[in-house]
Amino acid sequence: RKAYPAAITIFGAKGDLTRRKLIPALYNLFIENHLPALFEIFCVDFQTVDEAAFKNDLLAGVNEFSRNGKAEPSKWADFAARISYLQGDFTKKETYVSLKSKVEDFEKSGKQRGNRMFYFAVAPRFIEVIAEALYTRKLCSNKVHDRIVVEKPFGTDLDTAKKLNRFLTKRFSEKQIYRIDHYLGKETVQNIMAFRFANFVFEPLWNKNYIDHIQISVAEQVSVGKRGGYYDAAGAMRDMIQNHLMQLLCIVAMECPGAYKAEAIRDAKTKVLKNIRPFTTPQVFKNVVRAQYTAGEVDDVPKIAYRQEEQVSPESTTETFVALKMMIDNPRWEGVPFFLRTGKSMARQSSVIVVQFKDSPHKIFKDDIVPNRLIISIQPELEISLLFESKVPGLQMKLVPVEMDFTYQEAYTESLPEAYEALLLDVLQGDATLFMRADQVEAAWKVVMPILDAWKKSPSKQLHFYESGTWGPAAAGNLLKPYAKEWYRLP
Ligand code: BG6
Repeated sequence: RKAYPAAITIFGAKGDLTRRKLIPALYNLFIENHLPALFEIFCVDFQTVDEAAFKNDLLAGVNEFSRNGKAEPSKWADFAARISYLQGDFTKKETYVSLKSKVEDFEKSGKQRGNRMFYFAVAPRFIEVIAEALYTRKLCSNKVHDRIVVEKPFGTDLDTAKKLNRFLTKRFSEKQIYRIDHYLGKETVQNIMAFRFANFVFEPLWNKNYIDHIQISVAEQVSVGKRGGYYDAAGAMRDMIQNHLMQLLCIVAMECPGAYKAEAIRDAKTKVLKNIRPFTTPQVFKNVVRAQYTAGEVDDVPKIAYRQEEQVSPESTTETFVALKMMIDNPRWEGVPFFLRTGKSMARQSSVIVVQFKDSPHKIFKDDIVPNRLIISIQPELEISLLFESKVPGLQMKLVPVEMDFTYQEAYTESLPEAYEALLLDVLQGDATLFMRADQVEAAWKVVMPILDAWKKSPSKQLHFYESGTWGPAAAGNLLKPYAKEWYRLP
């Protein structure tokens, strides 16, 4: 692939995402020679800053958050020389006039019109403002080379997501729009596609004939911290289920795409979302559990209750935990429940997908047989294991479940790129495979809308509470019965 020069613009350069994720990712791409020889990073934000101090702060971010640890001074100096700060109000014309002249100067210096990437690391209220300015100032008008990257949340419900899609697609072609869901860039998540579609041994079993149920859990230890202002209006359904967990579900449940190509993969995923059985209001209260954390301890560190968090209403009914059961109405999955669960301030950080196979139909052993399970650990453990029954050595026929394991640590020496490294490189290379298409985002909103609507009508109905540092409310466990004794948890 030809490496075009890249003019990378980050709107929201003083924000947390830039410091924690974007700059460390770009820096790692740079030191591992994935960035084109000619590139420049234009950092735009409202605040007036001293450029040297700004860069030092970015360096501190790299030192703290990069998977490669501390930056090497000479490499950082090379990298930092390509960064410039542009103070500007996102709502003012002058910001874009000076940005345009900077981008054009860079392109002139390389005697080539390369790729332009505009990353929206900004609060949702600025997305349309910036998009409009890029459009009218003709900063992002080349349909092949110019791209925008939009962070979540993409809308706050189906209507706002549709409106935003309409707004963006009027100004840019769909191919220029990269809607990020960083879970799709995670190495272990990308590997699920390889696991499913490059190993024919599992495919014949991957359906209602052999699978009893599937669990998808994303448990977090972190609480909402300083993000109360955003989170209290969003909640776990909008923050995690509508995007990250739905995407995991799509990868697990999709049909094999016709080719490893962006559109084929995105078509296959969208079909899954469209086949999810719509929730009726009574089903919402039966099959969806929502809860909020109270004070407690996570790893021996005391945690305050959600209602005491900064910028959270003391009477808030926002959920910090959701567990739900959903069904997919298609020939592959008819009758197989999918259980999704996510929460903050929980006992452990653990993102795991469990595929539980059916019991063997004919029992010849005395011992209870534990059904086979395939466990795909996404983080922090990176492994795939298959649980099967084995005879305990000895003179009796005694069976116990054992595990066949694949761990990244044992199998590979390569270090794993961060999700943002993979995704930023894809944007530069024009590969949208791991990004959300307009119809995908809308289909995912469509699934969760009946739940959000039912909750809105009765905000405190069936809001459960769980102590920080636990695995969530007991009601979430009841959902699973009679399929499994409990949610799978890392030992
Ligand atoms: C973000 C959510 O999209 O994902 C956060 O807004 C959440 O609330 C985060 O903590 C989880 O991402 P990761 O990569 O740490 O699992």
